[in-house]
Amino acid sequence: MESAAELAPIHIGAGFFFVTELMLPAGEDYNRSSTRKRKKGMRSLTQSTFTYLSRHEEDTDQLGKWLAVYLLPGAVLTLDGDLGAGKTRFSQGFARAIGIRDTVNSPTFTIIKEYEGDGLPFYHMDMYRISQEEADELGLEDYFYGAGVTLIEWSSLIEDLLPPDRLTITITQQGDQTRVFHLTPHGEPYQSWCVQMKENGHLQ
Ligand SMILES: Nc1ncnc2c1ncn2[C@@H]1O[C@H](COP(=O)(O)OP(=O)(O)O)[C@@H](O)[C@H]1O
Ligand SMILES: [Mg+2]
Repeated sequence: MESAAELAPIHIGAGFFFVTELMLPAGEDYNRSSTRKRKKGMRSLTQSTFTYLSRHEEDTDQLGKWLAVYLLPGAVLTLDGDLGAGKTRFSQGFARAIGIRDTVNSPTFTIIKEYEGDGLPFYHMDMYRISQEEADELGLEDYFYGAGVTLIEWSSLIEDLLPPDRLTITITQQGDQTRVFHLTPHGEPYQSWCVQMKENGHLQ
């Protein structure tokens, strides 16, 4: 296959800069100032991961509230991160934000719990203990393309069953109460949500 550097010159105008931004190896000479300016301008379009810093549980609840504003039927959000990272804690705040009044607990042993509230139905999943055969038989597509909102803890264990369009959230722990949320949108509307949240100053 041709290298990215060989392909780049056949693109002209904005396309040229877009391709260099995405594909040229690190360390290439970007020193011409016009290139630098354009490169900076394109960055918001090409950003793939957004971050949110939570310094305590209330910050984690706040992220759930901001996301809740955008939700629509069939939305799928995945949650990954070590044990104790805050996946279930995030799910609880998120569920409250979308109008679920029942207590939301970890669905580790039940795999899927369904909740009805004031707004969209909420499907809370935890794949920590699932086998591949069990996962295949859950009928996940009925949830993913259904009327509600799906949140999946430990989604990396069923990666091949996930829908292509989704919002991936990975949580990393930094000390006792600080958590970093890494949000990666796959497709629309998730990309727009993240860009808007960044424009509003809610994500970095
Ligand atoms: N900023 C924070 N965001 C979320 N949880 C936090 C935060 N600070 C402390 N915690 C605590 O971390 C723990 C996270 O546990 P849990 O949500 O069950 O993790 P997981 O589901 O990822 O295994 C909870 O005890 C929660 O109170
Ligand atoms: Mg959990």
